[in-house]
Amino acid sequence: MNLKGRNFLTLKDFTPEEITYLLNLAADLKEKKKNGQPVDFYRGKNIALIFEKTSTRTRCAFEVAAHDLGMGSTYLDPTGSQIGKKESIEDTARVLGRMYDGIEYRGYGQEIVEELAKYAGVPVWNGLTDQWHPTQCLATLLTLKENFGHIKGLKIVYLGDGRNNVANSLLMGCSKVGVNIAIAAPKRLWPDADLVEECRGYAKEAGSVVEVSDELDVVEGADMLYTDVWFSMGEEKKEQERTKLALPYQVNAELMKRTGKDTTLFSHCLPANKGKEVTEDVFESEKSVVFDEAENRLHTIKAIMVATLGE
Ligand code: CP
Ligand code: NVA
Repeated sequence: MNLKGRNFLTLKDFTPEEITYLLNLAADLKEKKKNGQPVDFYRGKNIALIFEKTSTRTRCAFEVAAHDLGMGSTYLDPTGSQIGKKESIEDTARVLGRMYDGIEYRGYGQEIVEELAKYAGVPVWNGLTDQWHPTQCLATLLTLKENFGHIKGLKIVYLGDGRNNVANSLLMGCSKVGVNIAIAAPKRLWPDADLVEECRGYAKEAGSVVEVSDELDVVEGADMLYTDVWFSMGEEKKEQERTKLALPYQVNAELMKRTGKDTTLFSHCLPANKGKEVTEDVFESEKSVVFDEAENRLHTIKAIMVATLGE
């Protein structure tokens, strides 16, 4: 498998085999790190991390992964550079592409990260846009694999804001690799119909199904219940309206029971609004793998960098 020179902008651009390869590479890098076996053959390389929105996990994962790999990194915070103010994305891409071996971007429109990738001449990695959060989905899939030994045929139900970046990426990633995915949300928060159709096509090829429902019965048989905040970064004004709409889709102990399985896991991309999209008891329960998934951001992001910079 050769992903050298590729961008990582959305999982739509990756085949099921490529996604599986990235997951296996992440598991291998995780094991090596746990065993104290260094993988640091990227000495002399440098990466730029552009954050137009705030972050804990994604930033730290990129920085620690770069450090582990022997690379230098530069963090550009939401206010401290010329990007989008005094300088266009095209020019920024051409400047950073001359100095860095890879660029991470977190921000608003997907078209911005696409534009960076078009002009940078080095791999560009999407650290979250309004539409997608593809590195998060890889961490979810790795966490599932670690817990169940396989991923094909498992069922994830995502509840709440079914049209946000995390929901879209789960829909795309799961349907590509044959994980059954259901979105349980009020109709006004359903994912884009074209995206659902497209994902149904991938799921059919992979032997799985995509469901979108406003009924909670859809959690039956789920191996994981997943949720995210009801209003994303940049949507703060929607808090009240979304809370009213999404409250019936809160992940609580009763809903965990409705899966009919005592092996159902809970996860969340974090940060969480405890008491809103998930109750404190579920978040803190032994079924919660939120911190395993958070750790897996590091290993999966490292795998993306190793694969696209070239092994
Ligand atoms: N899950 C996630 O992307 O977290 P951060 O916003 O802290 O990076
Ligand atoms: N949907 C959330 C994810 C944060 C990691 C947001 O975009 O704010």
